[in-house]
Amino acid sequence: MAAEVIDGAAFARDLTRELTAKVADLASQGTVPQLAVILVGEDPASQTYVRSKIRAARSVGIRSVEHRLDAAIAQDDLLALIVRLNSDAETDGILIQLPLPPQIDVTKVIRAIDPAKDVDGFHPNNVGQRVTGAGGIVPCTPKGVMLLIRSVVANVEGLDALVIGASNIVGKPMADLLLTAGCTVTTAHIKSVGLPGICRRADIVVVAVGKAGLVRADWIKPGAIVIDVGINRVISPCGQSRLVGDVAFQEAVGVAGAITPVPGGVGPMTIACLMINTVHAAIERRG
Ligand code: GUN
Repeated sequence: MAAEVIDGAAFARDLTRELTAKVADLASQGTVPQLAVILVGEDPASQTYVRSKIRAARSVGIRSVEHRLDAAIAQDDLLALIVRLNSDAETDGILIQLPLPPQIDVTKVIRAIDPAKDVDGFHPNNVGQRVTGAGGIVPCTPKGVMLLIRSVVANVEGLDALVIGASNIVGKPMADLLLTAGCTVTTAHIKSVGLPGICRRADIVVVAVGKAGLVRADWIKPGAIVIDVGINRVISPCGQSRLVGDVAFQEAVGVAGAITPVPGGVGPMTIACLMINTVHAAIERRG
């Protein structure tokens, strides 16, 4: 039997609709949430992501202020902008699109953001709070993935979960959220030995490595939930460019119990969760 295809785009639209009503309510009380979006350089993928985030903010009623900076910007100038946004009363959220150019120390930049405005949840304060169960802002992609998983299985306690990919943005926080939800969690990565066998044990697989079609049908336990975070641009034999995930979708859909498509799976949820984090930051900050 073919898997349930999890419609992340529809889920994100529902979340966005609810949020739009909440933002209208806030606006009627004089609070318009404001998101500062910083893009350094001309990376085409980053430009696309930033455009989508700004469009989503506008549709929800969040005011977005874009800061486009030259790829050669000095680190001190970027830090000075962050300091200014930290103390700006109108700014509720600060998003710095990653990756950053090599002259910039990303750790230093993330540490400079006021944790209360860190709507990506990357600041060590937010990471520490999350890991210790003390709250904190949760990174957008793992937050969205948890919502998608729970839309299929409300209670994941005791399930065997595998996260392939160990980035600070997705893999590590994802494993932490699954652990907190009661899963038995394995974190693997592209260099893990015996990955297909590790994967075949998992009831839930989240893949975020950026390698098109890595996860094949024979890696998947029948009935497993498969969440594909990968976004890879490939050129088909007839020369057309298209986006595919880290899972070989056409074959995996025949084995999995539920699976996210690319595009239209995790991507829209990441953006919806960024909007949610921004609105929550505004509410927390402005009381
Ligand atoms: N680059 C890729 N994913 C993300 C993300 O979730 N947030 C930011 N700021 N940059 C990214």
